[in-house]
Amino acid sequence: MSSLKGIELLESLCPTISVGMLTANLLSLGSELSLLEQSGVRLLHVDVMDGCFCPMMTVGPPLIQAMKTPLLKDVHLMIQDPLEKLGDYVAAGADVVTVHAESCMHIHRVLQQLGSLQNANDPDRGLVRGLALNPGTPIEVVEPLLDALDLVFLLAINPGWGGQKFLTSTARRIEKLRKRVGTVQRRIFLGLDGGVTRANIADVAKLGADIVVTGSAVFDGKAPAENARFMLDAVRSSAPC
Ligand code: DX5
Ligand code: ZN
Repeated sequence: MSSLKGIELLESLCPTISVGMLTANLLSLGSELSLLEQSGVRLLHVDVMDGCFCPMMTVGPPLIQAMKTPLLKDVHLMIQDPLEKLGDYVAAGADVVTVHAESCMHIHRVLQQLGSLQNANDPDRGLVRGLALNPGTPIEVVEPLLDALDLVFLLAINPGWGGQKFLTSTARRIEKLRKRVGTVQRRIFLGLDGGVTRANIADVAKLGADIVVTGSAVFDGKAPAENARFMLDAVRSSAPC
């Protein structure tokens, strides 16, 4: 797996799910991760919240580093002014680092900085540079940033908690984004994050995201392994060709 560059590796997995850990049992994190690994999941979505950019506080670099797993770490930074902190998350083993367009004054500089960092797991793998947009942010903000990113996540909820309701406006937003990204010569991945459930995942997958984040629908306190397989199968079978 490590001989493939991050972008090619991601390409080989898509369409896929990235499983969010927010509602996992953090006191049994090792066994929760094993369940995911055995279910065929390859991406682990880690929601980092600082209590400033969004209301909750979650985890930081030490816990990310402590997650010993072959899963690719897809780190979603919901933090204010991420520039100075990128190095800590990369050193902790992030493979995908996503920053928010709304998180600072100079987001292009943040993406440039990400592009200059090496993947600490394997320098040959490279880092995947992600940009996330809140539901209230116009799609057009990606325009001047397209040369500096590999992935755009659209949030289908407002950041802060798992288990919220998928916003219907997301469908037209991803359509608009796909059209714009489709004119770029380079591969740019599209992701959707938030509000995905067993009931709506087939419809969400049809919207054509490469990566669908799913948190509470997997870690529901009951059957995470079976839920993960269900969500992965649903994305693979429902995504448009
Ligand atoms: C929200 C996070 C999401 C969310 C996903 O702030 O970015 O990743 O936790 O959780 P579910 O799938 O429960 O909406
Ligand atoms: Zn997230």
